[in-house]
Parts: sequence; structure tokens; C-alpha cells
Amino acid sequence: MLRLFVALELPEDHRRRLYALRDPSWKARWATPDQFHLTLRFLGPVEEDRLPELTRTLAEIEAPAFELAPRGLMVLPSLTRPRVLAAAVGPVPELHALQAEIERRVVELGFTPENRPFRPHITLARLKQVPTAAVRSFLQRHRDFALTPFPVRAFHLYESHLHPDGARYEMLHRFPLQS
Ligand code: 2AM
Repeated sequence: MLRLFVALELPEDHRRRLYALRDPSWKARWATPDQFHLTLRFLGPVEEDRLPELTRTLAEIEAPAFELAPRGLMVLPSLTRPRVLAAAVGPVPELHALQAEIERRVVELGFTPENRPFRPHITLARLKQVPTAAVRSFLQRHRDFALTPFPVRAFHLYESHLHPDGARYEMLHRFPLQS
């Protein structure tokens, strides 16, 4: 079984800047620059022999390239139960259209529909025991957080390799967008 997900890659400079937000004093697991991405669809465990039809289907998607700007920080699932600290992105209709098209295609292939609404985010840290007050003050301190827009010219299929000291994400395929 391969643990797969579809995501957008971030430019190196943006990943470096996201990593610079790190507060090492927190009881949290901060993502490293090579782990940053924006997930469009988590597929979960997939039989290896389904990979060809999956990549064929994703390659059929015709969607335009667009620009994305990380802007604002948030916690998931909520401030009262902070588990994940993430960067948000400015609203981009093309991003939501791409996500919806990927969802439609993978459901057609037999994957279970995702019933949670799409909340585009870049995970920065998984929080273990960080008091809500500390999270609140971090969000307040970085309330103007924004990075320059970057071009998204492709989306990718990744395999997630789980290790005790964190996940390693391997890019398996690149699917170009139309520019
Ligand atoms: P997250 O960053 O919000 O946890 C690889 O695990 C990617 O798939 C992560 O970006 C993760 O989002 C996303 N993902 C979505 N649903 C998931 C799930 N049920 N289990 C693990 N990862 C999931």
C-alpha cells in the first residue's frame, strides 16, 4: 500500500520564510522546509497497482495555472482545541476549482468522497501541549503575516513515508497546469 496525497509544492524561498516563524520553545512538532506543501486531496492507503489509473486520471485534468499568496495564520480544528498551526492563503477561485475537479475525478475512480469542506492551508506545526493563550499571542504577533504571491504551474502526487521522527514526502508525479 502507498499512502498518497495530491498537493501543491511551494517555492524554496517561501518555505524558508514559513520555517522562520518557528517558535522552538513550544511543545510542538514543527514542519521542516522540505515538508511544507498545500494538500488538495488526501487519498490515504492505495494499492500500488491502482497507481497507473490514478496518474492517468489526474493527468487528464485541464486547469489553468494561477498565483497563490500565503496570507494569515490559523489553527485547526479551532482555537479552543489547537492541534495544527497553519498558514492560510488568499482566496483564489482557480485553487478551489482545481480541488473540486480532483475530488470529482478521484471519486469517479472509487475513492470515498471527502465530506469535510476544503480549507486550504500549509501546516506549520502539529501542537502537542501549547496553551491557548500562547497560541493566541502568536497569532496576534503575526497578524500581518503575508508572503509575496507565487505562480502555481503544476500540482503533484506525493507519497507520504511515515517515520517516528516525522513524515517524509516523496513527489511521485507532476501534473502541469495550463498557462
Ligand atoms: P494536514 O497538514 O492538515 O495534517 C499528508 O499527510 C497531507 O495530507 C497533510 O498535508 C495532511 O493535512 C493531509 N491530510 C488530510 N487528511 C488527512 C488524514 N486523514 N490523515 C493524514 N493526512 C491527511
